[in-house]
Amino acid sequence: MRQAVYGLPPVDLAEVAGDAVQVSPLIPGSARLEDLSEGSLDVATVLAPPGTVERRYVLAQILRALVPGGRMVALAPKDRGGTRLAKELAAFDCPASDQPRRHHRICTLVRPPAPAGIAAAIEAGGPRHVDNLALCTQPGIFSWDRLDPGTALLLANLPPLKGRGADLGAGLGILSRAVLGSSAVTALTLVEIDRRAVEMAGRNIADPRAAILWADVRTPGTVPGSLDFVVMNPPFHDGGTEDQALGRTFIARAAEALRAGGMLWLVANAHLPYEGALREAFRSVSVTVQAGGYRVYEARR
Ligand SMILES: C[S@@+](CC[C@H](N)C(=O)[O-])C[C@H]1O[C@@H](n2cnc3c(N)ncnc32)[C@H](O)[C@@H]1O
Repeated sequence: MRQAVYGLPPVDLAEVAGDAVQVSPLIPGSARLEDLSEGSLDVATVLAPPGTVERRYVLAQILRALVPGGRMVALAPKDRGGTRLAKELAAFDCPASDQPRRHHRICTLVRPPAPAGIAAAIEAGGPRHVDNLALCTQPGIFSWDRLDPGTALLLANLPPLKGRGADLGAGLGILSRAVLGSSAVTALTLVEIDRRAVEMAGRNIADPRAAILWADVRTPGTVPGSLDFVVMNPPFHDGGTEDQALGRTFIARAAEALRAGGMLWLVANAHLPYEGALREAFRSVSVTVQAGGYRVYEARR
């Protein structure tokens, strides 16, 4: 039985075989969903993502890979797309049973011989160039089609940097592209957990000084050491829930990676209590600017 799983469905809601191939772009080392060949799966379990275009893309990719007669279990929290799942599957000509359980909706279906609209959903959710950002991007990536206001504030206040640095949670590479505008930057490591963003950053940054890693910043040893600078707009959500611990881990990793005297440039929502974590790990900390609900910190190791 050839099985795949997308994401980490709660164990009490969906059973997943131990040998199922993981295809979520948010789990470093997973297989590429897009590389599954047609008819290569007998069973798939999908913890469907919250964005509509992204979710339809994932469901369509899985339907493409399932053999006719193959089985899909797709589930999502009710308030994060779950209530729309059955309707979206019906639009692919795939009627599904729809079961409510523990704030989720769980849809089960057998793939018909010819689902409808798969190619269109894959096209709509696939990579493309967005002119207003002048970047390659894909629905589902953080702030995929607009400049995040926090990122914009950091961009507007970042001085020309020099030496070796890192961009933690680099996304599409917007900060990195600006950093690499300084010819005094000799090397830059981008670390990003979302494989789609890693692929798009690879297209957006064609610079021999840049190394792009598909990795979790929380994993020790991921970020190189003795750096002169780190830039970041750290995530404050993990799987849709606010997670301040994630931001604090990013701060700790930046502190470990910097040489004595090295500089961290960080932007965050002003309401996030990062100042304590910064003061614990850095010799000096200042707020460079606060505007529009965001704060840019400059911290010296
Ligand atoms: C607030 S966004 C900033 C993206 C980009 N730097 C920008 O300014 O537009 C945070 C990024 O961190 C990534 N991320 C979240 N958790 C991560 C982790 N544990 N390790 C590495 N990257 C992570 C997200 O996928 C997202 O791209």
